[in-house]
Amino acid sequence: MSDERPARTVPFSVPWFDGREQAAVSAALEGRVAGDGPIGKRVEKRLESTLRAHRVLLTTSCTHAMELALLALGIGPGQDVICPSFTFVSTANAVLRVGARPVFADIEETTLGLDPVDVERRITGQTAAVMPVHYTGVAPDMEALLDLSRRRRLKVVEDAAQALGARWRGRPLGTLGDAGCFSFHESKNITCGEGGALAIGDPELARRAEIIREKGTNRAAFLRGEVDKYTWVAEGSSYVLSDVLAAILDAQMDKLPAVNARRAAVVARYRAGLGSWAARTGVRLPPELPDREPNHHVFHLLYSDGASRDAALDALHARGVAASFHYVPLHSAPQGRAIGAGDTELPVTDRVAATLLRLPLHPLLSEEDVDHVIESVKQTGEAR
Ligand SMILES: Cc1ncc(COP(=O)(O)O)c(C=O)c1O
Repeated sequence: MSDERPARTVPFSVPWFDGREQAAVSAALEGRVAGDGPIGKRVEKRLESTLRAHRVLLTTSCTHAMELALLALGIGPGQDVICPSFTFVSTANAVLRVGARPVFADIEETTLGLDPVDVERRITGQTAAVMPVHYTGVAPDMEALLDLSRRRRLKVVEDAAQALGARWRGRPLGTLGDAGCFSFHESKNITCGEGGALAIGDPELARRAEIIREKGTNRAAFLRGEVDKYTWVAEGSSYVLSDVLAAILDAQMDKLPAVNARRAAVVARYRAGLGSWAARTGVRLPPELPDREPNHHVFHLLYSDGASRDAALDALHARGVAASFHYVPLHSAPQGRAIGAGDTELPVTDRVAATLLRLPLHPLLSEEDVDHVIESVKQTGEAR
């Protein structure tokens, strides 16, 4: 094996921080640093206007936003929640944490999100909710999923961890169902290190969620001056984001249009550079769907088989390109098998997981970086 270092290294994902986040944190440290303070409230208002949502609650993570949503909807023991297996562990963990059972359904070939036909096959008398994941910031067939949920009286909790700024038929992702959950983890388009948000349309559900988020107290109502002291009114937990982290998010919100525009430019360059190579080799680029407006969270390639994908990953790493595979399907992971899901048949999930490769994508990539990635990818295809 050669120990030669590649001439150029291209990291997979880098958050775009500069003096603006530092200044925002310094200012936050001068004031109240606990959660649900003035900065958090400002960021919630900004997100409500970006998402056109009745209420947004900042949370410590998307994982917690999903737990909070399920708790507020009253989903728990004896109930099933249908979600993809091709997702991050948090989607299924949130279901388990509230005492319900995740039931895995397959994904669509195009969007790589929940397949409504397979979801319908798996609905039983115990099914209480569906959790579509907007993988890469692209919605699955939401018309069919929303229609199915209405007909079968199921709640819809969107895992929009990757989807801030993306739309379906002009509507912001994360506002299509009963609740939408976002992530501000460092891998996301905007970040405060670790953080999340819950978007809710129904005022009554929002009231329940804000109580659970504040340790089961009516502190939020107290801070609004609606009650003269606050007290324990329900079972709850601690899901509020500190104002110090909210300050980072405030600065990142200013950058959101620029972040997404820079990501779009990288994606356009990938498409221009790889289009004819993909057509020649049969490797699939992400689809461009007319009723979806993506936020360019991920740019992925789908190889025809797992061996070609693995060889491409090795070759890209050797050239300093931090390309990556994605999820190990949850049904076949040790915890998935432990909850009895190991034998679930999910052929599209298994194939996509074995053949998908993600290219570096972040706002700090230079054109030279992108061209280096394109040239490296073309060499992997030609070596096959
Ligand atoms: C689809 C999906 N769901 C949930 C999460 C969890 O987000 P968080 O780390 O904010 O809990 C992620 C983060 O990677 C994700 O990509």
